[in-house]
Amino acid sequence: MDTEALQRTWKAVAELGDRVPLRFYSILFYKNPETQIMFPPGMTSQRDKLMRALGTAISNIDQLEEQKPGLWQLGRDHRRFGATQAHYGAVLSALLQTLERSINEWTELEWTEADTDNWCDAFQLLANEMLAAAYEQAKAGIEPWWDAVVSEVERHADVARLRIVMTNPPTGYELEDGHVLDVMPPRRPGLWAKALVRDVAIGAHADLRIRHHGLDFPAMALASTRPGELVRIGPPDSDPFEPEERS
Ligand code: HEM
Repeated sequence: MDTEALQRTWKAVAELGDRVPLRFYSILFYKNPETQIMFPPGMTSQRDKLMRALGTAISNIDQLEEQKPGLWQLGRDHRRFGATQAHYGAVLSALLQTLERSINEWTELEWTEADTDNWCDAFQLLANEMLAAAYEQAKAGIEPWWDAVVSEVERHADVARLRIVMTNPPTGYELEDGHVLDVMPPRRPGLWAKALVRDVAIGAHADLRIRHHGLDFPAMALASTRPGELVRIGPPDSDPFEPEERS
């Protein structure tokens, strides 16, 4: 794999600004409409996490060992986004088309077949790590999310408390005080906010504290949940799994 060529193409594309992620998401969403709901509504360039992270990870593929722990966590996180193996193929295909068209139309460089091969090989290495970690977690019986009922809501100027009912949470959701969770508000598919777990009464209820400072849109959306509504909870962050050695 020619890492210099990878870095050269990514550097050229990264200088082109927002039109590149715009093109990437347009292609991805047009060809794979089912992926639209996985992403937050009203995506702007600031919310473009996937494409930038991908380009950076690929262009640093020669440091794969250092990247592995982060990739495993990402792979597990992507379970809550609903990303399947087939989606990885869809993302790669949208990425390759975006890069080829952007390089050919907007830079002095010319995209070659060798570029396609390089990007495919590098993507495969990253995807393998992410998918292996996701698979390990699924094999351990941990659900990618849990829909919990909110029983009480208390709102203050820049913090809110949601009480969730804890009867029968699935495997992997043994919540403890101090856990940080990713929580999807009702009515906002694809949007995730951080919440701090407090006052866990095992088998009864737990509180989710959300700081929103009146500016953080995902947190505000979560803080506006009403009693009786469902919130979607991703697995707690402190995950000890590492993918098994593969032959
Ligand atoms: C090697 C492949 C991939 C890499 C390196 C990657 C990287 C990332 C990163 C770093 C984030 C931000 C995570 C966070 O804020 O918690 C992200 C978010 C996301 N990714 Fe991926 N991803 C990959 C593949 C995929 C695939 C195949 C899908 C499925 C369509 C996907 C869907 C998403 C979604 C829905 C988000 C949330 C976006 C948001 O909140 O703005 N990703 N990805």
